[in-house]
Amino acid sequence: MISETKTLVIGALGQVGSELVEQLRLKHGNDQIIASDIREPEHDFAPFEVLNVMDAEAVKTVVEKHNIKVVYNLAALLSATAEQNPAFAWELNMAGHFNVLNLAKDGIIDTIFWPSSIAVFGPTTPQNQTPQDCIMDPNTVYGISKLAGERWNQYYFEKYDVDVRSLRYPGLVGYKALPGGGTTDYAVDIFHKALKDGNYTSFLSENTELPMIYSGDAIRATIEIMEAPKDAIKVRSSYNLAGMSFTPAQLANAIQQHLPDFSINYEPDFRQPIADSWPSSIDDAYARKDWNWKPAYDTEGLVKLMLDNLRELVV
Ligand code: SER
Repeated sequence: MISETKTLVIGALGQVGSELVEQLRLKHGNDQIIASDIREPEHDFAPFEVLNVMDAEAVKTVVEKHNIKVVYNLAALLSATAEQNPAFAWELNMAGHFNVLNLAKDGIIDTIFWPSSIAVFGPTTPQNQTPQDCIMDPNTVYGISKLAGERWNQYYFEKYDVDVRSLRYPGLVGYKALPGGGTTDYAVDIFHKALKDGNYTSFLSENTELPMIYSGDAIRATIEIMEAPKDAIKVRSSYNLAGMSFTPAQLANAIQQHLPDFSINYEPDFRQPIADSWPSSIDDAYARKDWNWKPAYDTEGLVKLMLDNLRELVV
């Protein structure tokens, strides 16, 4: 039972981590959830440990110090940043994953959450309603590292009975934390710029459709898959997960329903080919069937929620 054991969140200051720690602490109590990241937090986030996931000994020390049984390992370079530094991205994304997988293999921890991504798909993957199992030919460093990580999940589960659980996150859109270095970041930036400046220059072209999800839904999916009974988790590589899909033009249009003067223009950059290699929409039937996944937010609901919550924050 997760509530009786201590949990470590690695990468707790990132987009997923900050919201996940908040939700886990609400559920299980502050003391049960140890947050960690490579840098010190700027606000009180205790209990907190500065931790480099690439340092296997340091990870083990923190795990043993707090009697951790569950680890969420969220430390990674995202797609756009990884393309700027491929060798480091590969090292961070893989070495960190092994350090945590090996703690479970050695019986020191019980359960791992590790996020995968829609980036595991590639140019010859079926683009619409991309199924769980299909051609996967990622052509980004980030995608390659996530696909390799998925295969190691499956391997550690089959060979060593490691209880590792994973989701292929679509682009995360939320108001609580800013994204860092992804190709889907535009879908968060656009709200900040819409409220602040009344216009936005999109780095993706107007008809680039990508799978997205409200971050609160993604966090709920994460907690739900981790709370599901072990034998309900049939997919041990990583589950497809869907929320909604939209293009920059469709998102801008939905924002204009609330802010009629908002305008958008398009200046695609190096992130355009990354987006072009990813699916437009995702079939998450396995997640729905195995552990009852159901998203709560569609595009209209998301836009209203984002504007309502950011209105006071963005000036
Ligand atoms: N949001 C991520 C990115 O754009 C995809 O997992 O890199």
